[in-house]
Amino acid sequence: MTNMQNVKIIGTGSYVPKKVLTNEDLEKMVDTNHEWIITRTGIAERRIAEDNEATSDVAAKAALKALKDSNTKPGEIDLIIVTTNSQDMIFPATACLVQKKIKAVNAATFDLQAGCTGAVYALITAWQFIATGFYDNVLVIGAETLSKFVDWTDRNTCILFGDGAGAAVLKAGQEKGILSGCLAGDGSYDDLIMIPAGLSKYPASHETVERKMHYVKMKGNEVFKLAVKHMKRTTVKTLGKCNLSVEDVDCIIPHQANIRIISALTRVLKIKKDKVFVNLNKLGNTSAASVMIALDEAVKEGKIKNGDIVVLTAFGAGLTSGSIVLKWLK
Ligand code: UT7
Repeated sequence: MTNMQNVKIIGTGSYVPKKVLTNEDLEKMVDTNHEWIITRTGIAERRIAEDNEATSDVAAKAALKALKDSNTKPGEIDLIIVTTNSQDMIFPATACLVQKKIKAVNAATFDLQAGCTGAVYALITAWQFIATGFYDNVLVIGAETLSKFVDWTDRNTCILFGDGAGAAVLKAGQEKGILSGCLAGDGSYDDLIMIPAGLSKYPASHETVERKMHYVKMKGNEVFKLAVKHMKRTTVKTLGKCNLSVEDVDCIIPHQANIRIISALTRVLKIKKDKVFVNLNKLGNTSAASVMIALDEAVKEGKIKNGDIVVLTAFGAGLTSGSIVLKWLK
């Protein structure tokens, strides 16, 4: 472990589609109302991709912004990791499609799927590649167009999700920018959030389409209970690994799923509210893109400053959960 390289994030970028879907719009589509959605979730509006806008399109737009922000040329990228739950196709990997779009001709490419925890998994994976000296520059992109996999007649799920992408460029540095990380998985909860059909268990058929098995299914209530527990556990564990405590944290960016989950996490961690970054009111739950978009927004809004200790924490389908602690050194 002693010969490991220090790694830091040297630039971020994000992109969300132009089309806004408000709670008032949803009132015309399903039996719901703004009051219920805002009090139960904190979401007022979300962005929706165009029909001809795929995940690789939103991903590429965020990636180009992160490259510009980090002053990195596409050809300098050694590896692109796209984390998504709404990839363009079963194969090739969305990362290959992004590589073509941004002309990162020297990059290796793969997708990583870990539900809404994907961004934390991808950042920790990228960190390992650079720390071991295997690669110098890695581009991590969290991107989703989950609106294409949402049943727009199901009020339990369609009010929650939004589309978008966030990206970050990671590089070896003099100082340590990534301090610690922690990942967890618990497949015994595999049935809580899923898109059941379209692959090997239930290949697409008339029956799967009729039974709406290509859409997101979620046991929201059960996920809710586990979310706070898991994000607290991984956050405390990750901070402990680098000898820090919650009091040392300047900014925490939790997965943007529900304001009540974020408020409960704030309470159990005993962290001040103004240190907790929230943008789900305008973007909804962008799944694997959520903490990546939020990180970019927090930096651009000046909520994260040089030297700050930042925690990203998430949970999602799998169940998966994880946290990463950064010292912001840009
Ligand atoms: O990204 C990671 C994955 N997902 C999550 O993190 C989601 C976690 N879960 C949640 O955010 C919440 O559980 C939801 C927002 C999905 C639901 O909130 P809830 O407070 O757990 O509501 P509920 O499912 O217990 O439903 C309460 C009531 C029900 O009516 P009855 O049975 O009490 O008469 C629902 O039918 O609210 C009803 N309801 C709605 N009413 C108006 C459910 N959805 C809606 C809706 N509009 N959109």
